Amino acid sequence: MESETERRKLSKNKTKKGRDKGILRDRADENECERQRERERMHQPLGLLFELFSDFLKYLPGAHRQIRKNLQEISAFIGHSVEKHREALDPSSPQDLIDTYLLHMEKEKSNPHSEFNHQNLIFNTLSLFFAGTETTSTTLRYGFLLMLKYPHVAERVYKEIEQVIGPHRPPALDDRAKMPYTDAVIHEIQRIADLLPMGLPHIVTQHTSFRGYTIPKGTEVFPILSTALHDPHYFEKPDTFNPDHFLDINGALKKNEAFIPFSLGKRICLGEGIARTELFLFFTTILQNFSVASPVAPEDIDLTPQENGVGRLPPAYQIRFLPR
Ligand code: HEM
Repeated sequence: MESETERRKLSKNKTKKGRDKGILRDRADENECERQRERERMHQPLGLLFELFSDFLKYLPGAHRQIRKNLQEISAFIGHSVEKHREALDPSSPQDLIDTYLLHMEKEKSNPHSEFNHQNLIFNTLSLFFAGTETTSTTLRYGFLLMLKYPHVAERVYKEIEQVIGPHRPPALDDRAKMPYTDAVIHEIQRIADLLPMGLPHIVTQHTSFRGYTIPKGTEVFPILSTALHDPHYFEKPDTFNPDHFLDINGALKKNEAFIPFSLGKRICLGEGIARTELFLFFTTILQNFSVASPVAPEDIDLTPQENGVGRLPPAYQIRFLPR
């Protein structure tokens, strides 16, 4: 696994050629129709530009500069928190990640090449903030919009909640294995939400041959997860919300190898387990206690995401949570 410092160093070294060839399609032989669908999904110009060329755009005026400013503010906030941790640190009883990291920094202080330094502590904490909050909440926001659009699905989830959990106790993680329909719905929400269509940028650490292309060392590569999540070879109706994509003929949960919203490989999402747990518990707890309603008729609900380059955000919508 390349280190954070290495990742940033390599990122600075990326060549123009590297950028041009950096975006790989998952399937070289896809037909024109599929390509069109992909273009539509990826057509989110401003955010996409920022994601691809953030190093260059920082020199130009525009709204994107606010992103940098906001990040600096959050970093300063985390820096302040690190100082408070430092003051209260009890080496015999570390309280959290920052405490543990500080102790490790102390242990490695004589190693000038250690990755455990102040800057990486700030970056790691910042990454966890973003990666751990915006992701699950955005997926849930998409999920509830889909429940408004497809009320019969919400109704079936509620029936399963009634059967397996009932009204008197909160959902527990053990319930998930007994609730294949709900689990399939959550999988399908994640597939349609397509939260990070381009995944996160990676750097190839050595010259790499891939389907006739040579990708030079140091090239930035975006693994386009969206193509897998909408691959018609794996999903019968790739652009339609249909929980059956994840159910077999007996109604049991069906795994699908193209379901890769968390990416795959060595740098697969670190939080996959916690994210799947959160999605299940929040989704079922809310639907156990509330039905959802919209001022807009289901057929008029628009699922088109807001323009955004890095992640896909659901459009703003109104929802009513009615106590059961
Ligand atoms: C629905 C929820 C989530 C989705 C769809 C998601 C998706 C992803 C994806 C696609 C990546 C990029 C992997 C790669 O580089 O190939 C990633 C990385 C990461 N995610 Fe998540 N994520 C979610 C929730 C979370 C949560 C809850 C946490 C932490 C509590 C988390 C922590 C991370 C971290 C730390 C990384 C970087 C891992 C690395 O670079 O080694 N994620 N996530």
